[in-house]
Amino acid sequence: MNPTLTAYVNGQFMSLDDATIHIEDRGFQFADGIYEVVACFGGHFLDLDAHLARLQRSCDGVNIPLPCSLDEMAVLIQETYERNPYADAMIYVQITRGASPRSHLPQGKLTPTLIVTSRHLPQPSNEKIATGVRGITLQDIRWKHCEIKSIALLASVMGKQEAHARHADEAFWLNEQGHVLEGCSTNILAIIDGVLVTHPLDHQVLGGITRKMALNVAKAHGLAVMERAWTLDEAGITEMMMSSTTNAVMPITTLNDTSVGDGKAGKTTLRIRQWMIEEMERLRAA
Ligand SMILES: Cc1ncc(COP(=O)(O)O)c(C=O)c1O
Repeated sequence: MNPTLTAYVNGQFMSLDDATIHIEDRGFQFADGIYEVVACFGGHFLDLDAHLARLQRSCDGVNIPLPCSLDEMAVLIQETYERNPYADAMIYVQITRGASPRSHLPQGKLTPTLIVTSRHLPQPSNEKIATGVRGITLQDIRWKHCEIKSIALLASVMGKQEAHARHADEAFWLNEQGHVLEGCSTNILAIIDGVLVTHPLDHQVLGGITRKMALNVAKAHGLAVMERAWTLDEAGITEMMMSSTTNAVMPITTLNDTSVGDGKAGKTTLRIRQWMIEEMERLRAA
């Protein structure tokens, strides 16, 4: 319990122990938010203007409206500092797109969530400063583990927003080699020269349960299946489809304003969809 600590949450100061946000908050659901942290030593903020400017840039970068002016934010930061017991403090400002029923594409006009908290800023001992720190190096994996169904979905949210702005339903990611990987919340498969093709399972794609089911029913019905890297300029692409728990398989008929195949729902795609429905009905009946 921290009865003496105070947090600012959406317009109110309250005890940190009572401070909560909605479970549908997009920060929790999608990591759809930004933050800033500013140090305060004995009442003096270190470069507050630079932190506020970066806060504005971060909000602009993900298209979240700043919930108040930067001057009002400076006042909130000051007040949060004063309401907490630490002379040397880190003041955290966290802003998310707000709470709404879970959907990658934000539904309607949301009210951003704003939280300001204070934590103690410990000073390293002279001994630690003299000793220094130990480090390691790692390959940069930020964020290259798409096989993990992580809630760090901000890039997917941004992709969905871009798709929506361009009157599309889904955005599909290409890697640097131009390989077609997957959608923001779907896998993608194509019919190329009569073969059902999709990117193999590695760190670049989520192992979709529906993707697996589509491949399995296709194989069971004698359709050739190949998990390999593929690109949009391959000759022989006649159909594309996306798969997910919420869509089963759905034909993709337009990509980047260009028709896929003849621009109609692919016949093989619809056949796979039908096989999946039959499979689900078999499961339901069992
Ligand atoms: C990035 C991504 N790829 C693929 C999928 C499809 O997975 P599944 O078929 O298990 O729903 C999802 C589903 O949320 C997803 O977020």
